[in-house]
Amino acid sequence: MATRLQGMRSLKNLFQKQLPLYSTPTASRTGTQIKRFSSDTQEDINYEIRPMRRSDIQGLYELLDENGWNMEKSYLECVFNTDPSGLVIVEKDDGKVIGHNGILAHSETIASSGMNIVKEDYRKHGIGKQLFRKVMDVMKDRNVGGTSLSNRITFYEQFGWTIKSYTIHYNQGRVNPNFIKDVPDANVEVVSVKDANFDDVISYDSELHTVPRPVYISNWALHTSATTYVALQSGRVCGYGVLRPADVGHKMYPLYANDSKIARSLFSKLASHIPKGEDLIFSQPVENEMANSFVEANNLNTYLSMTRLYNKWNIYPDLKRVYSVSTTEYGIVNVNTKK
Ligand SMILES: CC(C)(COP(=O)(O)OP(=O)(O)OC[C@H]1O[C@@H](n2cnc3c(N)ncnc32)[C@H](O)[C@@H]1OP(=O)(O)O)[C@@H](O)C(=O)NCCC(=O)NCCS
Repeated sequence: MATRLQGMRSLKNLFQKQLPLYSTPTASRTGTQIKRFSSDTQEDINYEIRPMRRSDIQGLYELLDENGWNMEKSYLECVFNTDPSGLVIVEKDDGKVIGHNGILAHSETIASSGMNIVKEDYRKHGIGKQLFRKVMDVMKDRNVGGTSLSNRITFYEQFGWTIKSYTIHYNQGRVNPNFIKDVPDANVEVVSVKDANFDDVISYDSELHTVPRPVYISNWALHTSATTYVALQSGRVCGYGVLRPADVGHKMYPLYANDSKIARSLFSKLASHIPKGEDLIFSQPVENEMANSFVEANNLNTYLSMTRLYNKWNIYPDLKRVYSVSTTEYGIVNVNTKK
């Protein structure tokens, strides 16, 4: 198992012109081995693709950080604590985590694809595709959703992800103080989650997410680092939002509300907790025009656009009530961020 770096010999003259960068993985007694060629070295790399363990969280966090992914460690813990059964790791024989792919099951029939990454030095050797096959095997016949960069959609088609759903924009920037100062009356009471019935919040989340995910939402919204507000109308939940510090900026994930006034009340309350000079990260389905107007009013920078895909049937949540998606990955209403 793990990685074996061996045979570091200079093959520069011999291989410089003829060798392709890509080589096919072959099964070995201890795991899988690839030969990696660069212009002046040959490396035999032994690695194993195996289920993720709690002790891998730090290694995965470092791999993501190395790639500039704004994926805080507590988020990885949240996903792992929810259900580790669809999470896999590539471990090199020196014990280092060099790849990850994961799918989170939401029910017997539905799952969400999460992050997938291979350490830069080991790309183009077929590891990414093996990882994909592995997690798809774990998920069997479930309808699996995921988000794709527009230039990657054809890659996902080969795994059956042919159904295009909605588009998500990823935004970052400073909140406009005027936008959160004079907030129109929404005729709601906005309370801390501590003063709300969390079962009601879970029921509201289930309506929006379409599949209940009480474990994930409890792990996310009740975490010590989370600031969570709930909007109540005659005692009934009509919106909620969570703000959590990320390694860069503060993620407002999710912001769900029955109308734009309620959304703005929650937005303002949550945004007031962002320390001066720090950024908000806000990711909205572009189909929600009012959410787009929040992005414009705060002059946030849209740095990425991704398409939601499914492999069996479309799931199209009530996007008019989704102002910012709930997770950076692993959700039906989800997203993926980068620094
Ligand atoms: C995408 C990634 C995981 C592929 O890993 P890999 O080990 O190089 O992949 P393979 O060698 O099996 O496959 C090679 C081809 O399939 C593509 N591919 C493989 N797995 C992929 C995946 N999970 N998502 C998208 N494309 C993938 C590769 O980009 C490559 O395409 P190309 O030849 O047109 O450039 C890797 O490039 C990576 O970590 N990139 C940065 C993170 C990222 O973009 N993740 C996917 C979007 S969330």
